Amino acid sequence: MTAVKIHRDLADLTWAVAALIVKLGKQALAEREVFRLALSGGSTPVPLYALLALPEWRVQLDWTRTHIYFTDERCVPPDHAESNYGMVRRVLLEPIQMPEANVHRMRGEIEPREAAAAYDALLGGVPLDVMLLGMGEDGHTASLFPQTTALSETTRACVANYVPQLGAWRLTLSAPYINAARHKLFMVSGAEKATALQKVLSETRDPQRYPAQLIDGALWLIDAAAASALPQR
Ligand code: 6PG
Repeated sequence: MTAVKIHRDLADLTWAVAALIVKLGKQALAEREVFRLALSGGSTPVPLYALLALPEWRVQLDWTRTHIYFTDERCVPPDHAESNYGMVRRVLLEPIQMPEANVHRMRGEIEPREAAAAYDALLGGVPLDVMLLGMGEDGHTASLFPQTTALSETTRACVANYVPQLGAWRLTLSAPYINAARHKLFMVSGAEKATALQKVLSETRDPQRYPAQLIDGALWLIDAAAASALPQR
C-alpha cells in the first residue's frame, strides 16, 4: 500500500530517510546477512548521502556487508560531473571508505544497450532490499521519463532508455524490477515538485505521463513544500 509521510523541511526529511535506511539495513543484515541498497542521483539525496557519511552515522550500519546499486545512470564516464555514481562516490563512498567490491555501478561510459545488458546480468533477477527513488517535476522516477520506451519494459531489470526530452540516453532499472524490491522509498522535496506529486498520488492513473505511478506500494517521504498541493488529510 502506498503511504505518505510529511516532514517539516528538507533537513527533517533527510534525517528521517537516513534513520529509515539504517533501520532497514540492520533488519536486512539480521535476516539475510547482506543489505542491498539502490541509490538515486539528482540533487535531493545529496545531503542524505553526506549525513550518512558523518562519523556518528556511518558507524550505525555495517557497510562491509552492504552492497550499493544504482536506480539509474546518465550515459557519461564515472568521473563526469553528471555521473550519479561519481556523485555518490564523492559524497558517501569515499568518505566511508566503502570496499570497491561492494559498489555496483552502471557503466555510463559504454554503449547504452551493452551497459544495460551487463547490469541486468549483474543483478541476476535478485530483488534488492531498498530502492531509494527521487521524482522529477515531470513525474519521472529513476530514468523512467514520460512517454519513453522503458515504461513498457516487462521482463528485464535494467534497460537503456532514449529520452527525447533530454536528447540523451539513460540507463534505468525497470518498473517491474523496482517493484520487486522489499522497500521502495521516494524522497521528494520542494514546492516545484508539488503539482507533479499531487498528480502522481491522485486516483487518476496515467503512468505514461506520470511514470512514478508505475511504482506500487511505495513509502513517500516528502517535505511540507512538496506536499503543498496534496488534498488535506
Ligand atoms: C537522476 C535520478 C532522477 C532523480 C530525479 C529528481 O539521475 O537524475 O536518479 O530520477 O531522482 O530527477 O532529481 P532532483 O533530486 O535533482 O530533483
